[in-house]
This record gives sequence, C-alpha cells and structure tokens, in this order.
Amino acid sequence: MRIISKVMILSLSIIVVLSGTTYSIFLESENHIKSATFVSKSFEVGPGKIASKALYDIEFPKGHIGVKSFDAELVDEDGKSVPLYETYLHHWFAIKYNENITMSRYIEQSHDISKGINYTRNDGACRGFLLPHYWGLGGESRGTSSNLPDPFAVEFGNPTNIPHGFKEKWLFDIMVIDTRGAYSRKGCTECRCDLLNLPKDFYNVTRDINDQPLSLNYKGGLFCCKDNLQCKLRKGFHGPTRKLSLRYKIRWVDWDEHQVPLKFYILDTTDRVRTNGSSTIHDCQAEYTIPRIGHGDSPHVKKANIPMKKGGYLIYGTSHMHTGVVNATLYGQDGRVLCTSTPKYGTGKEAGNEKGYLVGMSGCYPKPGSVEIKDGEILTLETRYQNKFRTGAMGFFYIHLAEQLPNILKI
Ligand SMILES: *[C@@H]1O[C@H](CO)[C@@H](O)[C@H](O)[C@H]1NC(C)=O
Ligand SMILES: *[C@@H]1O[C@H](CO)[C@@H](O)[C@H](O)[C@H]1NC(C)=O
Ligand SMILES: *[C@@H]1O[C@H](CO)[C@@H](O)[C@H](O)[C@H]1NC(C)=O
Ligand SMILES: *[C@@H]1O[C@H](CO)[C@@H](O)[C@H](O)[C@H]1NC(C)=O
Ligand SMILES: *[C@@H]1O[C@H](CO)[C@@H](O)[C@H](O)[C@H]1NC(C)=O
Repeated sequence: MRIISKVMILSLSIIVVLSGTTYSIFLESENHIKSATFVSKSFEVGPGKIASKALYDIEFPKGHIGVKSFDAELVDEDGKSVPLYETYLHHWFAIKYNENITMSRYIEQSHDISKGINYTRNDGACRGFLLPHYWGLGGESRGTSSNLPDPFAVEFGNPTNIPHGFKEKWLFDIMVIDTRGAYSRKGCTECRCDLLNLPKDFYNVTRDINDQPLSLNYKGGLFCCKDNLQCKLRKGFHGPTRKLSLRYKIRWVDWDEHQVPLKFYILDTTDRVRTNGSSTIHDCQAEYTIPRIGHGDSPHVKKANIPMKKGGYLIYGTSHMHTGVVNATLYGQDGRVLCTSTPKYGTGKEAGNEKGYLVGMSGCYPKPGSVEIKDGEILTLETRYQNKFRTGAMGFFYIHLAEQLPNILKI
C-alpha cells in the first residue's frame, strides 16, 4: 500500500474519474492490424488552471492482443486539436491494473479504489510503482512515433497471465496546464511553485519523492503542479473555461503464434542506482532541476548507469523529455551507441508545430537482431538540456526489447 501511494504522488491520488464514455470508435483492417480511436472522458480547465486527473477504466481493445502503437493528443469539445500554448499537455500515462471482478460494481458506484485493484507495472526497474506506464508522453506526443514494426508487439489480455477473479483494465494519469493568459507561460509549464497558489503550509506538509519533507529549495516540478491549482495570470485576463479530452488511437493485432512479444522498459536519468550487497536498488527521482549557474554554452548533462537484469534485442527506442532538450543517448557498457533521440521544435502556430515548444522526439528502429543488450549489461543514459534554469525536467528513455527473434530473422 505504501508503495502504491508513492506512485500516486504522480497524481493518481488526486481525483478519481471512472470513465467509459467515448464518442467515436473507428475500426479498420490493414494487414490484420486493427485500429480504433477513442475519446476519454472530459475534464474542465480555465485560464491558468492545472488539471491532474486519474481516469480509470478507459476504453481499450478487448481480448488477447498485441499492441502495435498508442498515440494520444489533447482535443476540445468539438474534437479540435488544442495547441500547446493554450493548454500544455504535461504528460499522459497509460497504466494497466487488475480489478477484482466481485468488487467492480462497488468501485463503479463508490469511486473507492482503495481495495480491489492491483496495479501492474511495465518491465522497467524504477522502485515500487514509480513510472509504471506502458505508453505516455507529453507536449511531444503529436510528433513522436510509438509504432512497433512487424512481427513485434506488446502482449496484453493473455488469460494465463491475469490472476483468477481479476479483469485487466487501464487508466490514464493525465496532467495539463492551461496557460491562456499566464503571466509566464514557460514558468507555468515547468510548474514553478512561486507562480502557483499553493496552500500556506505547503512546504510544511508536503513530502518529496523519498518521503522526506519537501525542501524549501524545491522551486518547481510535479509536487507544485496539483489538480485545480491556479497559475498566475496577467492582470485583468479573463477567458472561458472549457472541456478537454484525450483523443487516443490504438493499433493492435489479435495475438497468435506469428507475433513476437516485446518487453518494455523505462530508464530514468535520475535513477540513483545502488546496491545493498545482494540486490540492485533503483532509486528513480522522476524529475530534476537544471541549476541557474550554467557552464557556458555547453549543454547540461545528466547521466545514470543502469544495469539491465535481462537483456534482449533493441527493436524500438525513444525518449520523453521537455522543451529545452538537446538530445538523449543510450550507450552500451562498452561505450557503443545503442540509440540517440533528438528533438523537433515547432516553428508555427498550428497544433503539432507550436513555435518554441518541443513537438517531437525521434526514435531508433535498428534492424532487428543488430543491436543486442546482454543480460546484466550496464547501460548509460545521458540526457542533455540547454544550460538554462529549468524545473521539473525529465529524462526518460523508453526501450522495447525482444528476448527472441522470429526464426526468419535469426542469423
Ligand atoms: C475479491 O474481493 C472479494 C470481496 O472483497 C474478496 O472476498 C475476494 O477474496 C477477492 N478476490 C481475490 C482473488 O482477491
Ligand atoms: C494484490 O495486491 C495485494 C496487496 O496490495 C496482494 O496482497 C495481493 O496478493 C495481490 N493480488 C494479486 C492477485 O496479485
Ligand atoms: C511551517 O513550519 C515553520 C517552521 O517549522 C513554522 O514556523 C511555521 O509556523 C509553519 N507554518 C505553517 C503554516 O504550518
Ligand atoms: C537487499 O534488498 C533486497 C530486496 O529489497 C532484500 O530482499 C534483501 O534482504 C536486502 N539485503 C540486505 C543485505 O539488506
Ligand atoms: C547530442 O548533443 C551533444 C551536445 O550538443 C552533441 O555533441 C552530440 O553530437 C549530439 N548527439 C547526437 C547524436 O546528435
């Protein structure tokens, strides 16, 4: 329970919305790949407002499937894409859980999720339930690929893996920041504490990710971006509230012997890996601050050396970073480059190309079999940001690994 509440730091404890409403499902079929577009339940934002929500029981394809891609973006009530300078999509995370079937009715009616739910994390090693999601990005969502090449997919809904009496379900952990009229758009998107109407005793009662009292030096990040807080507005600014939703598209195949399963790992550049003698302990912090004092023009570099208990063949890699990112690179133990992810910045006004914002991160699709990570190999993750003061910076590397290759690709 303690472990769960730690994750939930990343917003899940805040508000529970059980969502099952969609307004459009669209199915097509192409090379046995099915695809559907869903719209999540809506949530309200107003100028300067933060919305940090957990939407339980979202629509997800049924049955034993292999997911090929999962893409999401923020839309308004008319289904129009919302640009980042109006409402900044800080993150959306898709998280899997098992629900006790006999409790389902109670949970639906009471919205009490304290019993009957077991969260099931990805294959990554962050402590407890930190960074548990299988998909999830932020402002770069529209320009970042999640496609997995054939015959690879991430397997879900396998009845033999779901405990008896439970049902596999999904939730969204979403945080958006409405920056219309904001005194400092950049400050609000970085969750600067001094721009938010925090409660008076905020620093006295808030505990950090290590369950220690939050330091007065904490200037911004996830802990200050709480649901329904208000970011400082320009004097006299008024604007309408509006209802937004996540529109998400999932592509999948029915699982069969032709599919090759992938493991999914999130590596965090803030992981303070250590050992207690017998076990490796991953101590992920999820976010970090780029200090005010720079070192000239060279980027700020953060590094972590992360041992991979189990290796595999790299099939796809990309990263989740924030505006200001220079690049992120994953190295093997011998120093070889496994994958570099580089940013795309917007140059216009339209959603997906917002000027000055990070609008996409590139990924790597090595020829399957060509990039192998050995069991026990220590990988090095390096994330680089421009050398300017920044709070709530993130540096996650996402990798999909195949533990075996299909016969046809075996060398
Ligand atoms: C499911 O919930 C019911 C009611 O609380 C409980 O009796 C049962 O043991 C639970 N089932 C499992 C498999 O945990
Ligand atoms: C669900 O989690 C509880 C603790 O939170 C644990 O006791 C139980 O064994 C778990 N059940 C399953 C089916 O994993
Ligand atoms: C917060 O803690 C400080 C120092 O311990 C104390 O002086 C102050 O009164 C506390 N403020 C509130 C609102 O609890
Ligand atoms: C190290 O951590 C593991 C996993 O938490 C635990 O099982 C083990 O007892 C610990 N060992 C020592 C020496 O503390
Ligand atoms: C990443 O950024 C560093 C620093 O600017 C640069 O030296 C390096 O070449 C970049 N790597 C890639 C692959 O773009």
